[in-house]
Amino acid sequence: MLRRLLALVLLAAAATASGARPVLLRTATDDASAAVSSGAAQSDALFCDSWMLSVETGNAGPWISVPTRCLDSVHSYMEGDRYASDSDVVALDSIAFAAQALATAQEGNAKPAWVFDIDETLLCNEPYYAANLSRLQNFNETSFDEWVDEAKAPALSSSLKLYNELLDLGFHIILLTGRSEFQRNATEVNLKFAGYRSWEKLILRQTSDIGKPAVQYKSERRAAMEAEGFKILGNSGDQWSDLLGSPMATRSFKLPNPMYFIS
Ligand SMILES: *[C@@H]1O[C@H](CO)[C@@H](O)[C@H](O)[C@H]1NC(C)=O
Ligand SMILES: *[C@@H]1O[C@H](CO)[C@@H](O)[C@H](O)[C@H]1NC(C)=O
Ligand SMILES: *[C@@H]1O[C@H](CO)[C@@H](O)[C@H](O)[C@H]1NC(C)=O
Repeated sequence: MLRRLLALVLLAAAATASGARPVLLRTATDDASAAVSSGAAQSDALFCDSWMLSVETGNAGPWISVPTRCLDSVHSYMEGDRYASDSDVVALDSIAFAAQALATAQEGNAKPAWVFDIDETLLCNEPYYAANLSRLQNFNETSFDEWVDEAKAPALSSSLKLYNELLDLGFHIILLTGRSEFQRNATEVNLKFAGYRSWEKLILRQTSDIGKPAVQYKSERRAAMEAEGFKILGNSGDQWSDLLGSPMATRSFKLPNPMYFIS
């Protein structure tokens, strides 16, 4: 099973040109959707709630795009109270852990650090996807890069609160994103626009990272942080590929994202 997953991940890496964005893999999502709908008369809303749970837990494995019957559900989830509420609870769990972890970590002399992903973690790109739901099914890198250049993505408000609390506690905050180095300025402008005040480092993909699966790229960067004397207590991301791999943070916090998958 693990080997099969690994094979899929490698396949995915080979299939991506830039490596910076979601990867196009054949998945069972629409097949599962068809199988379920041909069974009992299950409403789209109920099926899509279950599909989103499957995505969040990682049970769905690599997937290409939101099933057609779930486009409206995903849109309602993102724009309604539920996304905000789910994200709030992740932030509350994170801060409860942070305060207690810091007390323990200060016994050593490593610098306590928290790693944040950016898209769908600190910044919310939902306005871009909501402007045309077909973007959830046909990712267009050119048009997404134009949106990044606008630098107008709002903060995910629960993450902004967590971020400020971590800064106040004295955490070293490191931003580790799948965005590319050429997007550094637009990313910094957007983070400030959204209310993020300061960070220790902003790490973007370099030319040498092109084509690497996110798990590999991000693990390598976490290893470098540890070599520089940071102790990564927490890591927040909307993709499992932000969080898995070695070295891993003491605790990882998975934010919801039913819009796209990155391997
Ligand atoms: C949404 O995108 C699709 C495919 O890219 C395009 O055909 C359609 O015109 C777009 N709709 C709007 C309202 O922009
Ligand atoms: C992708 O987006 C660019 C820029 O907005 C647009 O010119 C192009 O037609 C889009 N491609 C597709 C296949 O929709
Ligand atoms: C930085 O990015 C912003 C947003 O894309 C843009 O308006 C500004 O001109 C850029 N500045 C430089 C120096 O490139």
